[in-house]
Amino acid sequence: MSVIKLYKGDCLNVLKAIDSNSIDLIFADPPYNLSGEDNLTTKNGKVAKLHKGNWDVIDNIHLFNETWLKESIRVLSNYGTIWISGTLHNHPSIGIILKKFGLWIINDVIWFKRNATPLLSKNRFAPSTELIWVASKSKKYYFDYDMAKKLNGGKQMKNLWEINAEKHKTIHPTEKPESLLERIVLIATKEGHTVLDPFMGSGTTGVVSKRLNRNFIGIEIDENYFNIAKTRIENEKNSPNLLSDLSNVIQIKFQSSLL
Ligand SMILES: C[S@@+](CC[C@H](N)C(=O)[O-])C[C@H]1O[C@@H](n2cnc3c(N)ncnc32)[C@H](O)[C@@H]1O
Repeated sequence: MSVIKLYKGDCLNVLKAIDSNSIDLIFADPPYNLSGEDNLTTKNGKVAKLHKGNWDVIDNIHLFNETWLKESIRVLSNYGTIWISGTLHNHPSIGIILKKFGLWIINDVIWFKRNATPLLSKNRFAPSTELIWVASKSKKYYFDYDMAKKLNGGKQMKNLWEINAEKHKTIHPTEKPESLLERIVLIATKEGHTVLDPFMGSGTTGVVSKRLNRNFIGIEIDENYFNIAKTRIENEKNSPNLLSDLSNVIQIKFQSSLL
């Protein structure tokens, strides 16, 4: 059974109530900081709205990142890892702060979406990637290399992950694919470990953590998204025997997808 704790509130405050060195994995999908950009036109003439919501409009994004990351690093166990996803609009800031706080940057995982929306706008490449920083407080951190290999059909896993965007299960505009979180949770934790998501959104990390028998702490500031995440996580079942089944499923899904 996993222990699930969900907090409706600002992670800048809620994180302060979490014990130091108590978290095995932090998956953070913070505001993208792209909502000020113009919309893009897609190939079929539709407008791709870059405005994700008011939560994505932050005055001083670097200061915001520094504040939540400082507390996140405090609560992260010395053997844990922090994974932070985002696009070019935020990842330079995150990288600088990880270095400033003396974290060990383990990997930059490039998540490639082959099915990304094609663009009609001829002023840039069609965005199809997100970058996930992977970092730790020490060089001794939990990383299940064999699991990664197993999930990749028996071959060493590279830092380029091809995972297609999935049909959303909720109305959240930036809901992550469950298969992305399954991969991260399986590699970065074992059963009974505790996962924290300070920007829970629609609850994808919580759903996957519960499914895989990990404890979970989720924080979300928006009441509507909080309620969506709560219902979604409540409806998910712990699955004691899922691990072996899931490995097979993921293996098949990813077998032909990596370079
Ligand atoms: C990029 S989305 C996360 C999406 C999530 N990974 C999912 O799969 O649904 C970021 C979320 O962080 C929330 N948020 C923004 N600022 C916050 C803060 N200070 N504390 C807690 N949540 C915040 C937003 O409301 C939004 O739902």
